[in-house]
Amino acid sequence: MKIQDANLSGKTVIIRCDYNVPINDNKISDDTRIKASLKTINYVLESANKVILLSHMGRIKTKEDTKKYSLRLVSERLSELLNKKVAFCNYDDDINKVIDENKIILFENTRFFDLDNKKESNCDLELSKYFASFGDIFINDAFGTCHRKNASNVGISKFLPSYNGFLVMDEINMLNNVKNDPKKPYIVIMGGAKVSDKISLIENIIKKADKLIISGGMAFSFLKIQNINVGKSIVDPDSFDFCREILSKHVDKIVLPLDVYVSKKFENGEKTLRNITDINDDEMALDVGEKTIDLYKNIINDANTIFFNGPVGVFEFENFSYGTKELLKMLKEKEDKVYIGGGDSLSAIKKFNISFKNVSTGGGASLEYIEGNKLPGIFEGE
Ligand code: 3PG
Repeated sequence: MKIQDANLSGKTVIIRCDYNVPINDNKISDDTRIKASLKTINYVLESANKVILLSHMGRIKTKEDTKKYSLRLVSERLSELLNKKVAFCNYDDDINKVIDENKIILFENTRFFDLDNKKESNCDLELSKYFASFGDIFINDAFGTCHRKNASNVGISKFLPSYNGFLVMDEINMLNNVKNDPKKPYIVIMGGAKVSDKISLIENIIKKADKLIISGGMAFSFLKIQNINVGKSIVDPDSFDFCREILSKHVDKIVLPLDVYVSKKFENGEKTLRNITDINDDEMALDVGEKTIDLYKNIINDANTIFFNGPVGVFEFENFSYGTKELLKMLKEKEDKVYIGGGDSLSAIKKFNISFKNVSTGGGASLEYIEGNKLPGIFEGE
């Protein structure tokens, strides 16, 4: 079901985007995902009467979170990029009036409804119907959320004719190269902060990959279960049994850090290089060291397909950006063979100003897709 098949003429079209962008000091620090949504929005604007945009941002668990994760700044940035007014609409505004008076409207974060029984994340039927009531046609262009069954992507599609947007289709085409026919040796680099979400994907990824480099926060659960002292580094105790099993089956494929830069606090402070077996109780690892980077270099040099999902350190802190920067420089040299996925990865390539050809805006979604999972947010059929 592709966007080109939709008759958009004169219609109010709801587009689900992934505007889950990083915000620091009240500024959007990486607008890649906003820019990536322009192709579909501009196409729809050519014939539709109105465009309503939906997106989530962050994970909403408390009322406090709603202050941190408002989409208002996104409406301002989008307005600049489109060079057109984008009205911003809260759920307690007179929504029909806002729609009557404007052509492009961005609704507030759909996950604000998670405060009420996780209605967005649990794909609540009434909420899905409510979102659908504002439009005639639905286009899902949020590839990054396609692995989630939420009210604003899957639920809404039960009530409106629904199509995949350009971003979703383009990213699927690109990722099909990795999913269907990864040229060997095929290596996957998994890092980033969202540990527990990804750990369960490893089981299938590792069947196809020749090497799996596990880095970032995820690595320390694998080290801890080998009785290595990881100090205050991030671990996910719920995954220990799983890590033990995977490691026992695939010890030859899994690559873990050999040395790390540690700090006493999670901040851009003083750093000390430690062999992986020498981390002290009061230290946390925030980046990988030179020996690890050399190890990665050997593996990457031989590879013919590389999927990079998540940075290897807390690159947002200047003092702990070494590993991610070195790794990206290495990958750039093999650009044609490299596929990159995920919000944190996008932010890293933007920060270090290294561009890549094959980039997906989805992190967990791209991993699940190349693993062979059917994503609920992708609408199949002609
Ligand atoms: C992402 O950043 O990977 C997507 O926006 C999905 O976010 P989520 O993992 O919070 O659902």
